[in-house]
Amino acid sequence: MVAGTGYAVPKRVFRNDEFASIGIDTDDAWIRERTGIRERHIAGPGETLTSICTEAAHNAMAAAGVSAAELDMIIVGTCSPDRLLPSASVELQAALGASRAVAFDVGAACSGWLYGMQVAEAMMAAGSVETVLVVGAELLSRIVNWKDRNTCVLFGDGAGATIVKRSTKQRGILASYMRSDGTLADLLDRPKGGAAYPMTAEILAEGSHLVHMRGREVFKNAVRSMADACDRALDLAKLSSSDIDLLIPHQANVRIIEATAKHANVPMEKVFVNVDRFGNTSAASIPIALDEAIAQGRVKDGTIVMFVAFGAGFTWGSMVVRF
Ligand code: COA
Repeated sequence: MVAGTGYAVPKRVFRNDEFASIGIDTDDAWIRERTGIRERHIAGPGETLTSICTEAAHNAMAAAGVSAAELDMIIVGTCSPDRLLPSASVELQAALGASRAVAFDVGAACSGWLYGMQVAEAMMAAGSVETVLVVGAELLSRIVNWKDRNTCVLFGDGAGATIVKRSTKQRGILASYMRSDGTLADLLDRPKGGAAYPMTAEILAEGSHLVHMRGREVFKNAVRSMADACDRALDLAKLSSSDIDLLIPHQANVRIIEATAKHANVPMEKVFVNVDRFGNTSAASIPIALDEAIAQGRVKDGTIVMFVAFGAGFTWGSMVVRF
């Protein structure tokens, strides 16, 4: 069961109308109409992935009444770690002083938090751990191409943290579904700068180590996969769409969210949307939304929430949770 949540974002808010000032040929109306995004948070010089993860984790631990010493495991979903080696999760472990916790990252892009929650649940069911910190966090502003209007307007920075404890049968994850399709990896990737093409001055100059995306194809796959994942989760939980009190989808684009909700037959009043204020924060988007939904009183004891995610890989999945 989810025992506590928290989030943190960099202080700086970057509005749509600011792109023109950095030489990007776009405008607020285009971005809002195509994506629903108004603004996003962007990290400043002193801020790191570890610093926002730590703040989000402290908020979740305070909400759950859990100390760092009680954490058995830390899972971080991210595709923008502070260093390529070691993992973001061990940096977070050190920052928290969670010396008992085993720490590892999940590389599933925007599905990272959802995959992490399912790994946590499975480890708890196996009896290996009692208390797990699952974080989804990104500093996408550090890995997007700020000269590419197709991508730089979409993303934002942030971290969402969740403390999970072993659940009773009536509460916790009722159903979960995870899928991947690596044959479509080239549609959303960082083509170079990894071990296959180690960084060179040429790669740096052409920017091929930064996020590259074929937006229209990604859009179609996202809608298809998230719609299917909703169907699967409802089937597995033996529930119908009317049983869902709140749908919390990955916050990539309001049009993807609306299409997914329509397919799942969940009215928009029951769908949580905050992409307008945060942009697409990848692995952080669902746990940030969950924390806001709890703070707004939209998730209480007994509320049934369906989560659905989609990201680079492609990776996607869904989860139905009774709080
Ligand atoms: N401002 C103004 N124009 C822009 C622009 C921007 N920021 N970005 C792209 N355009 C232009 C394109 O160059 C294109 O111009 P052209 O027709 O002269 O070539 C035009 O807008 C239409 O581009 P298109 O790709 O057809 O737009 P779209 O309706 O598909 O919207 C996205 C583009 C990126 C918003 C949309 O495809 C999308 O959201 N895709 C999914 C992205 C995503 O969520 N990724 C993460 C998944 S986890």
